[in-house]
Amino acid sequence: MSRVAYVNGRYVPHTEAAVHIEDRGYQFADGIYEVTAVQGGRVIDEEAHFDRLERSLTELRIPVPMGRPALRHITREMLRRNGVVDGLIYMQITRGVARRDHPFPKEGTPPSVVMTAKRVKPHDPKMLQTGVAAITIPDIRWGRCDIKSVSLLPNVLGKQQAREAGAYEAWMIDQNGMVTEGTSTNAWIVTRSGEVVTRALTNAILGGITRKSLMALAAEAQIKIVERSFSAAEARDAAEAFLTSTTGYVLPIVRLDGQPIGDGTPGPMVKRLRELYLQFMASDQHAA
Ligand SMILES: Cc1ncc(COP(=O)(O)O)c(C=O)c1O
Repeated sequence: MSRVAYVNGRYVPHTEAAVHIEDRGYQFADGIYEVTAVQGGRVIDEEAHFDRLERSLTELRIPVPMGRPALRHITREMLRRNGVVDGLIYMQITRGVARRDHPFPKEGTPPSVVMTAKRVKPHDPKMLQTGVAAITIPDIRWGRCDIKSVSLLPNVLGKQQAREAGAYEAWMIDQNGMVTEGTSTNAWIVTRSGEVVTRALTNAILGGITRKSLMALAAEAQIKIVERSFSAAEARDAAEAFLTSTTGYVLPIVRLDGQPIGDGTPGPMVKRLRELYLQFMASDQHAA
């Protein structure tokens, strides 16, 4: 089955899918995106992803190009046409195509809408059993990290730095020495006294959908989550650490900057939270 992409109202062969060179997403990173997981044909947390998509657009004053029924329809069509049962949906909306000039183009320029779908293999069980490593790097991003903008250069450079250091993720450190988040994941620790901690939502981090769902699941399971900032030193001294994201779900971090966290193996809390999240994904409870 050859891949198909959705570009501005048309389903086209993936190899031929393109936007114009004067698309503002291409020239100014003037656009936003969403990544949604699909498991067993279920689109996980679809409404929450639409909520964040619409919020990102509104914050950037990009018109919402279509309603949720249309987006839902295109999503299902993309899954069907690409034969995706387990995988990822990517959607990107930019301010559209206009002669290159910094101010917004005149009213009526339609936003560009692109969607792709791909199959993704299940996570490598070894990565889950052994956990992954992370490094810390300075957070050099802008002041609106709550917007899921396609402007990801600091994240790209940070992830590359992690990979070159043999790590899976880089945790970014703000000017006060506190961890903001990973380059494409939210950051969590479990302190030695058993507190499960993640940074509170502000403009400094992206409000992860996995973070949000995990918090709800933890509340149902009577596991208390504390939303506060923590430093890299506190993370290194923690009993456990982990990340959350649409692609990684809930993934143990066992080394930070080359030093083991806890005993250097995934701890009981991350295993429990991951299990809760996997059960949630496999249920029809919150999935569309
Ligand atoms: C910077 C950043 N933080 C956190 C996340 C996790 O968000 P979600 O759980 O919605 O995938 C992402 C996901 O791409 C991200 O790019």
